[in-house]
Amino acid sequence: MAFILADVTQLTSCNEDRAAVLKTTVANDNLVTVDTMKIPHDKLGDAVRYGRQLMLYTAYYIGPNGINGHYTGNKMNCTNCHRDAGTRPYAFNLVTVFRNYPQYRAREGRVLSLAERINNCVMRPNLGRPLPLDGREMISIMAYLKWLSDSANVNSQTKGLKNMGVAFPDTAASSANGERLYAINCTRCHGANGEGQMRFDEVTYTYPPLWGAKAYRQGSSMHRIVKLAQWLIANMPYDKVTHYKPYLSDAEALDIAAFINDDKKHPRPSKGITEIQYPHAEEKAIDYDKGPFIDSFSETQHKFGPYKPIAQYWESKGLKPTY
Ligand code: HEC
Ligand code: HEC
Repeated sequence: MAFILADVTQLTSCNEDRAAVLKTTVANDNLVTVDTMKIPHDKLGDAVRYGRQLMLYTAYYIGPNGINGHYTGNKMNCTNCHRDAGTRPYAFNLVTVFRNYPQYRAREGRVLSLAERINNCVMRPNLGRPLPLDGREMISIMAYLKWLSDSANVNSQTKGLKNMGVAFPDTAASSANGERLYAINCTRCHGANGEGQMRFDEVTYTYPPLWGAKAYRQGSSMHRIVKLAQWLIANMPYDKVTHYKPYLSDAEALDIAAFINDDKKHPRPSKGITEIQYPHAEEKAIDYDKGPFIDSFSETQHKFGPYKPIAQYWESKGLKPTY
């Protein structure tokens, strides 16, 4: 039986209670919006527009064969995850991110600038090397994110800036059941081997890869099962779901995420990041699977769950479980 772990979802800042979301989005469409047609036609506007283009057509501009530089190591685009160039609700929305940095980041154990955080995504999901901080590309992405933040129609009630919450079942996420669900719901686009489908011109994908040498690397946020499931319920299957009409149940999304992120079944790039992840164990996301931990739950339980006992243990110690 799945149920919403109310005390945990309240404590955790990056999730929205799914039941509440559904109720309010139906009753009152208070979703994050921004009108990118209003980007000004001046020199700053040109940078904003190029920054937006970079998020939509990352591989074309700065991919392995990019026309403006070779930075990302695979042919995925930022918009594959931060959908509609970071403007879509519940799709790792980036509309207000410019306001939220510099920010203390538990994974790095230090305060990161927004540019450093952007480079984390260039390096991890996109397998790349960092964009120079004062180069045209980084400045343009920053200009775009600042413009989003300045232009967005948001207030304290706005929905879709945070991720959709998933309720934790009592059982662990099942990679075996996920495999079955993947074959039914995902193979037709992402392929039986998670390889996706390259576009005819080989510049980027029609359907991006989910695992293998060209997919997001280990240690990317997507590689955590809860984080991936939060995104899946609002975004996939591509042609069957919208944030107000979810298709997968929470438990199904967790099972599929467990299958995609099952390192025993699916290789993905693991080398290349040397910085220690989560140097402070008491700040580790509970679905991050590499010890040391402050609790006695196994690496397997941290990765696949059940997550409720872990979250409850953390709360009992006065610590905030994040995921
Ligand atoms: C494979 C999916 C994926 C791709 C591709 C990707 N990202 Fe991300 N990105 C994520 C995830 C997951 C997070 C963490 C979101 C969360 O914690 O809710 C994130 C976080 C971020 C953040 C910080 C958001 C915040 O609120 O702190 C920024 C900025 C960002 N990404 C920019 C980019 C840019 C620019 C690109 C392209 C160069 C990119 N990302 C490519 C998955 C991706
Ligand atoms: C009809 C085709 C289609 C189906 C079916 C589909 N996807 Fe996708 N998927 C896409 C497309 C297209 C994108 C890129 C989205 C964008 O750029 O806005 C995507 C992006 C993704 C991403 C983020 C990018 C990456 O490669 O890491 C994940 C994860 C994902 N899909 C998982 C799934 C899962 C799991 C299912 C089954 C429940 C599924 N998809 C079903 C077309 C599909």
